[in-house]
Amino acid sequence: MTVEGSSIDSTRPSIARVYDYLLGGKDNYAVDRKVGDVFFRDLPGSVAIAFANRAALTRAVAQIVTTTGIRQFIDLGSGLPTADNVHQVAQRHAPESRIVYVDNDPQVLVHGCALLEQNDRTRVVRADVRDPEGVRTHPDTLELIDFDRPVAVVLSAILHHVNDEEDPAGIVRHWRDHVPSGSHFFVSHFRSGDNPETAEAERVLQQTFGRGRWRTDEEIASLLDGLEILDPGIVPAPLWRPDTAPNPWNAGGAERELSVWERLIVAGLARKT
Ligand SMILES: C[S@@+](CC[C@H](N)C(=O)[O-])C[C@H]1O[C@@H](n2cnc3c(N)ncnc32)[C@H](O)[C@@H]1O
Repeated sequence: MTVEGSSIDSTRPSIARVYDYLLGGKDNYAVDRKVGDVFFRDLPGSVAIAFANRAALTRAVAQIVTTTGIRQFIDLGSGLPTADNVHQVAQRHAPESRIVYVDNDPQVLVHGCALLEQNDRTRVVRADVRDPEGVRTHPDTLELIDFDRPVAVVLSAILHHVNDEEDPAGIVRHWRDHVPSGSHFFVSHFRSGDNPETAEAERVLQQTFGRGRWRTDEEIASLLDGLEILDPGIVPAPLWRPDTAPNPWNAGGAERELSVWERLIVAGLARKT
């Protein structure tokens, strides 16, 4: 299949499709399932990372919409459509919310466009988050996002796919410098740990995709330099403003002891003052 001059490659695993497989989705190939099965088989419990991440993201979107006047979202590295996508959560609370999804995986564009055909307040842009200027000035972004009004920039499970030399802090800085005060930034990020299971997970992902950098809590916080990090700070995703309301991603809430996997991904929300 060809999308905008570039084809979906079913012979090599893709980050978006492996993640889709871990979340129980169907938009993946044998080559993706082979990588995902390393997690299911050799690293029991590790799939909790993906669910903890999605749960924190959906809580953050709901809170941004219900506690701020923000009605526009840019979701960078948005992934394949799954349960409770950003536009569904935001528009459930505020139907006028506008969302631009950005991903460099051609399959995300195909499935995203199919899902969004009936939704004129949502766009899917195929672009590289390492080119924030290109994303910001893309015609679809400019059509939907009013940069004179506060924006929510979503960086969920994406910056750990950006190597240091690609300047992840510079990506955040670009957006910070081009959105008005009151804009919010949601970040979730793999945290480097010193236990053998998570080191193995990091090794598998880096070897499979040939890239990626897990970071310490201090390094993750420094990606948000110049922004005010809101309560409760950057914390394991299940501890980020847990709610008790039923949520498809959150079985049992955060009252129980977290697994090593749930501690592996941290989340935080920051505001441009
Ligand atoms: C782990 S998934 C996260 C999906 C979603 N944000 C979430 O938190 O559930 C990472 C996504 O980032 C995308 N991605 C990775 N590198 C990217 C890049 N340089 N530019 C755009 N998208 C990228 C992948 O295709 C994938 O869909």
